[in-house]
Order: sequence, then C-alpha cells, then structure tokens
Amino acid sequence: MPTAVIILAAGQGNRMKSERPKVLHKVAGSAMLHHALNTAAAIGADRTIVVTGHRGQAVADAAQSFLEDVEIVHQSEQLGTGHAVGQARDVLAGFQGNVIVLYGDTPLIEPDTLENMQQKCAAGNAVVVLGFKAADPTNYGRLILNAAGGLTAIVEHKAATAEQKAITDCNSGVVCAKSNHLFDLIDKIDKNSVSGEFYLTDIVALANEADQTCAAVFCDQAETMGVDSRKGLARAEAAFQRRARDAAIENGVTLSDPETVYFALDTVIGRDVVIGPNVVFGPGVTIENAAEIRAFCHLEACHVSSDAVVGPFARLRPGAEIAENTHIGNFVEVKNARIAEGAKVNHLSYIGDAEIGAAANIGAGTITCNYDGVMKHRTTIGARAFIGSNTALVAPVSVGADALTGSGSVITDDVPDGALGISRPKQELRQGFAKRYLGRLRALKAKRDKG
Ligand code: UD1
Repeated sequence: MPTAVIILAAGQGNRMKSERPKVLHKVAGSAMLHHALNTAAAIGADRTIVVTGHRGQAVADAAQSFLEDVEIVHQSEQLGTGHAVGQARDVLAGFQGNVIVLYGDTPLIEPDTLENMQQKCAAGNAVVVLGFKAADPTNYGRLILNAAGGLTAIVEHKAATAEQKAITDCNSGVVCAKSNHLFDLIDKIDKNSVSGEFYLTDIVALANEADQTCAAVFCDQAETMGVDSRKGLARAEAAFQRRARDAAIENGVTLSDPETVYFALDTVIGRDVVIGPNVVFGPGVTIENAAEIRAFCHLEACHVSSDAVVGPFARLRPGAEIAENTHIGNFVEVKNARIAEGAKVNHLSYIGDAEIGAAANIGAGTITCNYDGVMKHRTTIGARAFIGSNTALVAPVSVGADALTGSGSVITDDVPDGALGISRPKQELRQGFAKRYLGRLRALKAKRDKG
C-alpha cells in the first residue's frame, strides 16, 4: 500500500525559550524533525510532506537537507492540528494509500509501531490512532473505546467529563488513515468553539458518524513523548540513549558502562565491537565488526574498520577513515585522513588532510601542519614509513614508502622512498659542563642565603 507521511512542524514552541524553531532542537545529534523524517524513511514512505509555519524557511531548509524530495506546505496561521493536516490536501490530490500523521516534536516513534497501524488500516479501519496508557492522563486527549475495542471518539482533556477524565487510554496524536477518507473527514471538522482551532482528533467521531470503523494501536508512553521544553528535550535525549544502548547490546556490542556511551541517530555499530566508558558518537559514524573504541573517545562522521583499536582519549573528526587492524592511541586527533591497514598513530598526534600508508608507524607527537593560515594542504606518508617522534610535517609534503624521519624534524621537502629526512641541529657535547655550572649556582645561592 503506498504511504504518505505528513509531519506537522508549524508550532512555535514558546516554552523552549529559543530563537530556533522547536523542531530543529537536537536529540542524539539530529534535529527532532530529522528523527520524524528518518522514521518516515524507515517505513519506506512514498511521499513525505512537512507542514511548516513558525520560521518556515529554516524548517523547510532543514527538511530538504535530510531528504531531497521532501514536499513542503506552509501553514501561515496555526489553526489547529486538523487545519495543519488539511494543508497537505492539494499536494496529495490523487494520492491513493495510507496517510500517516507524525509530529516534528515527537522524535521517538518506532517504524514497527507505524507498521502495526498500517496493518490495522489494511484490516478495514478508516482511521487508526496511536494510543498509550498514561501514568498521568492530564492534558491528553482521551480515547473512547467501545466494548468491541473500536475507537468511537477522542475527547480533549478540557472537554472531558469527570468520568472521561478517569480514562487513562490517551491519544499520542499519531494517526494513520486512508487517503480517500482523511481529507473528506477533515473538511467536516468544525472549529472548536472554545479554542477556535480545528482538531484533527474530531475525525474519529466524524468517521464513526459516517459508519466507518476506527481503531487504536497502543505503544509505550515513552515512545510517544513530545518535546515542548528544554526539560522535555533532556528527557527525550535520555530516552533515545536508553533505547540506543539497549539496541546495541541486543545486536552484539559490548558496552562496559552503557550509561556513559552516547549514540547519534544514525550510528552504525557492527558485532563484537567493544566500547569503553564515556564514548560519544556524533552523527555519521560507522564502526565495523570487532573494532574496539576505548574510554573517552569522541567520534563524528568517520568510519572505523574491523579490528581497529581507537583510544583511549582519541578524537576522530569528519572524514577520518580508519582501516583494519590500525591503532589510534591516546590524545590523537584525526580529520579528513585515511589511515591504511595496520598503521599505528599511538600517541599525542594531529593527523589532518593526510594519507597514512599501510603499516606506517607515526611517532609520538607527530603533527601534520595542514593549514598555512589560508589554505589546507595534504600530507602523504608511504607504506611502512617510520615517522620519528615530534616530527612536524609541513604540508604539502610526502614521505615515501619505507622512509624515515628523524625525531624532532620539521619536514618541509618530500622524502623519497627508503630515504631519511632529518632537520635538526647537531647535538653538542661539553664534558663536565653540568657539574661546573650547577656548582657555581649552588655557591651563589648559599652566599645569598647567609646574608
Ligand atoms: C494533541 C492532541 C491530543 C493529544 C496530544 C498528544 C489535538 C487536537 N489534540 O494535543 O489529543 O493527546 O496532541 O501530545 O490534536 N501543530 C501545527 N499546526 C497547528 C497546530 C499544531 O503544526 O495549527 C503542531 C504543533 O506544532 C505540535 C503538534 O501539532 O507539534 C500538536 O499540536 P498541539 O496543538 O500542541 O496539540 P496538543 O495540545 O498537544
């Protein structure tokens, strides 16, 4: 069944106390809007429509940066959730299939849940609503279910009778409906006499009036969590991380202290990977099977191959490509650089805009001087090269295969294969100097101390 997803993202989110539109605040390194778009992609949505409003251009740009063929419709006045969904009517004219309504501020909805809702729709229901059992139902719309389990209405908290207020089956807001019914039902929604809004939730009673059946699918309350404050954002982050840690462990990853590891929305981790405490994954990281990420590493937009060992205390920045069996050690930063198989960069180095050959050994304190103050330049190190400790490689520069650099050298010219590049003053040796010099100083101090 073709599926269209409409993501409501028009609200201002005053309680965030922010210049930034609410849906662009981040959970797990990605805008909440991207979480909703990601869920739409995960269920293979054929069409994805974002309804913008407050700071519409910024929200549209963010949506397009995630999904090129996203469709944007603008809701210039926020007249309620029913009115917001109605904005997609024209772009979906002629679309036949299921329409799912998601929210740009509700980042934790799982693809499996939406698939359950679609199945209920396929089983003959015109409208399927995602519900949850609320610990405290205050302020949520209540689901009114009949004896057969069918959904007959949704009553907003403010309009609920005392008896209805006692119901703990609540509306998450997420809806799946058949396209040929949805917009007809939306047309029939009356403006709420108190708030002046058009409530999407009214389509349930309207469908029942038209003899169409409606149903609810239930999920955990945590999954339906909406964010409207910084406190809510922190809660969503914690919930996302709990879920991501559990999923990693479930999929064969060892986390030695799970609660201190932070994943991004798109982190991919293979089997038998071991992750130490206090590791942070920014967006765009893939770790292949059996690699080890030791304590206190920070990684973003990089790729770590099988059996590589990274850290402790390493930083992999965008474009770090770490091949199999490599070692990236403590206080090493790698950016836009490929470290080929078996190479070692074990201590206190900066490797940026570089190519490090297979089995090369990069000594402690080696720095690629990649930036001349205006432009960036590349450093190329050949296979099996040995870079002496504290070498400064002033790019653009290359060191050939099986070549050496002398410790403490500043390498400004290319070093051919098999050669030694060395640039440091020759050592002087003065016999007995230290003894004489220190003796003089001690005598001087003794004289001063006396008087
Ligand atoms: C809605 C539901 C309620 C449910 C609750 C779950 C309605 C009428 N009520 O209430 O039953 O329990 O969600 O959180 O739907 N939005 C727009 N344009 C608008 C109005 C809203 O894009 O014109 C977006 C908002 O930015 C927000 C979302 O839709 O992200 C929900 O809207 P809101 O008015 O806050 O609904 P709730 O009061 O939360």
